[in-house]
Amino acid sequence: MQGLFDMHCHIVPGVDDGAGDMRMSLAILKEEKDNGVTDVIMTPHFRREMFETDRDTVLQRFLTVREEAKSVFPNMRLYIGCEFHSNMDMEQIIASDPLFRMIGTRYVLLEFSSAHSRSYIKERTYALLSRGYQPILAHVERYPALAKDIDLVEELRDMGAYIQVNADALIGKDGWGFKRFTGKLLKEGMIDFIGSDAHNISDRACHIGKAYARVARKIGKSEADRIFIHNPAEIVSAAYERP
Ligand SMILES: [Fe+2]
Repeated sequence: MQGLFDMHCHIVPGVDDGAGDMRMSLAILKEEKDNGVTDVIMTPHFRREMFETDRDTVLQRFLTVREEAKSVFPNMRLYIGCEFHSNMDMEQIIASDPLFRMIGTRYVLLEFSSAHSRSYIKERTYALLSRGYQPILAHVERYPALAKDIDLVEELRDMGAYIQVNADALIGKDGWGFKRFTGKLLKEGMIDFIGSDAHNISDRACHIGKAYARVARKIGKSEADRIFIHNPAEIVSAAYERP
């Protein structure tokens, strides 16, 4: 059965600041399931000098979680992606290994720092687009350069980037400012993806179900399905389409 997607979460154990061990990985997956999620794209961080776990280790641990989950959550489909923190060599790094991309496709979940400027964000987004990648800008509400400037979000989207926001921002768990800004983006039709960005089952847990309900209430069920089912399903299709 097709339920919701979570396309941004930190469930692979022991590779970043998300799940520390297999027990936590399975506990987060249980919450995903309780939220109505059937398809999870796990996106461990890659960030220079902070999260540099080699991709072989990431892949091995992902395969272990997937194997463990098979018997506990037989109806869930699990995939591997990456949340890639931008840098000036990222075009080469991303090209070097499909594990830096979403399920090995041309989709890249791209993260910035709160200190990054408008021009840096635009230039790095364009750098990926011009090489044929499809950037998905991770939690845009978090960057002051974007969160203060809805026109820039629109410009990036017009350039061809996709926009992702976090479920917690939309439902108000990250504060009033984030709720208001993501609500505005939603109303303007500028949100392409919503992820949980779950790291654990306490302060950074999965609230996809609640976010889906809010989106459906605000802009209708078919738009909610586009964001939580059809758009992420495109990534899966791209991963399994014939060459
Ligand atoms: Fe994240």
